[in-house]
Amino acid sequence: MSASPLSVAVLVSGRGSNLQALIDACAEGRLGARIVGVLSDRVEAPALRRAEASGIPTVALAPRGYPSRLAYDQALFARVSAFAPELVVLAGFMRVLSAPVVEAWRGRMINIHPSLLPKYPGLDTHRRAIEAGEREHGASVHFVSAEVDSGPVIAQVRIPILAGDDPESLAARLLPREHALLSATVALFAERRIALTPAGIQLDGRILERPLALGPDDRWWPA
Ligand code: GRF
Repeated sequence: MSASPLSVAVLVSGRGSNLQALIDACAEGRLGARIVGVLSDRVEAPALRRAEASGIPTVALAPRGYPSRLAYDQALFARVSAFAPELVVLAGFMRVLSAPVVEAWRGRMINIHPSLLPKYPGLDTHRRAIEAGEREHGASVHFVSAEVDSGPVIAQVRIPILAGDDPESLAARLLPREHALLSATVALFAERRIALTPAGIQLDGRILERPLALGPDDRWWPA
């Protein structure tokens, strides 16, 4: 593991359970990272309270009053930049970011999405996967690009869809695996093992042919 902890800013809009997983992993020394700031577009987001409880600086910036989406995004990311993060993590951040902002953070901003991308970008992923008759579901961590829930996929975790699953039961079973996936992926960044290059995602200097898969034992496959 690298000597200096990776500085991470986390963007949130809601509950913040993925943020909490990162906070806990940092606190327990499982992640060579430090969360330098948590920012939200929703002043009331419970995620902000989680950050405060851990003594992490927060910024709540509501989009209201900004003349355009771009103007808001630029204001928000000026606050992100003030924390000088090496990595930005979107963890339940519910806004679509404007292309210039995404481009400026290309290769340095990741998102966690509750589906096996490229399947089911957007909302309501659990219901859509069940209705399509899928036998498995999962979550993906990907580099952020200008289109929603697109961008090169770094890593995924899979769970079976069980007979009798409804969107709530499936979401509840997936959530702890999301937490493990996000922590394990940020750990790869903290170890400086991941890079986005024009040829694709590099892991340990080699192009990743397909997303890494996190096994039930929380180990990567291929190792
Ligand atoms: C998670 O399911 C995440 O994958 C999605 O939004 C949800 C956020 O949950 N992008 P939480 O706020 O981290 O609890």
